[in-house]
Amino acid sequence: MIGNGREDVHVTISGLGAHVPERVVTNDELAQLVDTSDEWIVERTGIRERRIAAEPEALSDLALPAAERALEQAGLGGGDIDLLIVATVTPDMMFPSTSAILADRLGAADAAAYDLSAGCTGFMYAIAQAYGMLAAGLASRALVVGGDVLSRILDWSDRSTVVLFGDGAGAVVLEHSPEAGFLAFELGADGAGGKHLWLPGSGSRVFADADRLVKMNGREVFKFATRVLVQSAEAVLERCGVEIGDVDVYVPHQANVRIIDHATKKLGIPSERVVINVDRYGNTSSGSIPLALAEAQEEGRLRPGSLVLMTGMGAGLTWGSAVLRWTDGGTA
Ligand SMILES: CC(C)(COP(=O)(O)OP(=O)(O)OC[C@H]1O[C@@H](n2cnc3c(N)ncnc32)[C@H](O)[C@@H]1OP(=O)(O)O)[C@@H](O)C(=O)NCCC(=O)NCCS
Repeated sequence: MIGNGREDVHVTISGLGAHVPERVVTNDELAQLVDTSDEWIVERTGIRERRIAAEPEALSDLALPAAERALEQAGLGGGDIDLLIVATVTPDMMFPSTSAILADRLGAADAAAYDLSAGCTGFMYAIAQAYGMLAAGLASRALVVGGDVLSRILDWSDRSTVVLFGDGAGAVVLEHSPEAGFLAFELGADGAGGKHLWLPGSGSRVFADADRLVKMNGREVFKFATRVLVQSAEAVLERCGVEIGDVDVYVPHQANVRIIDHATKKLGIPSERVVINVDRYGNTSSGSIPLALAEAQEEGRLRPGSLVLMTGMGAGLTWGSAVLRWTDGGTA
């Protein structure tokens, strides 16, 4: 799917927030659990530490502070929201949805609320969907959360996956704006590659020996990731007539520094325009892009007029990009 935003209706991000659990887990700590080392993890992934949720913490507990911060920045309360989407593969439970739980905790009594599953690309799918709802006039103010507690579904004896992931959530408020915000989206999926990153036994398909833990073919996912990060970004930029040199802030999915470096070089984006925080949080799945966006904002890198390119990729296998002209917020 690829498409431009409407020319007569503008939708923008008017609030941003993020939250990670308190507990920091270093590479050296992981080396006490599995046969790995800080040196190997840093060299192959760029990750130095990640945050891991405490036992009583579920996704909605991470999402709530992120959502509250995003609403506060937008100058809104929960009751102003009429659409709430939570992108995740680790909801509190299969039902009720985490978005319904969150809507209740935020006091968003009039919001349509549902969860969306598109692996680590979930946040990109969710903002495209919220954009569509707002542009079509079905909703007026949306809260989109991306977050995961992947530590719950990892095989803690598998060194090839435990070193990569962390827990965290980010949230954005989408509102109408007098100026252009979102310019275009590109989303895709390749179900044939789904077997390279999957959670067998987690749904209605019966597996004889399922253990309901993440399984991954790292090399295949690496090849896929480097390919789609470049292809999707080039396609969406071409679609909205933007040159790569015009991109001020590039927010790629935070999976692995080597994957990001590869895409950045291939695309020709100067490294100072790239947002990287995977070294401190690992891959937080659906939380990755909103967490990185929130950090870019804190660092003063998102200024009105900045052209922002975001690209996610992950289980499905899925990918998704958006181009956004950063604005000074929305208008009610
Ligand atoms: C997982 C990943 C870091 C592995 O790095 P790599 O350079 O491709 O390493 P390889 O898979 O070639 O494995 C090399 C060796 O390191 C070993 N290894 C794997 N994980 C290790 C670890 N944590 N510590 C030490 N050795 C490890 C492998 O067993 C392999 O050993 P072998 O040669 O004896 O079989 C890399 O493939 C990757 O990042 N893939 C993408 C994963 C991803 O982003 N998933 C989420 C997408 S949303």
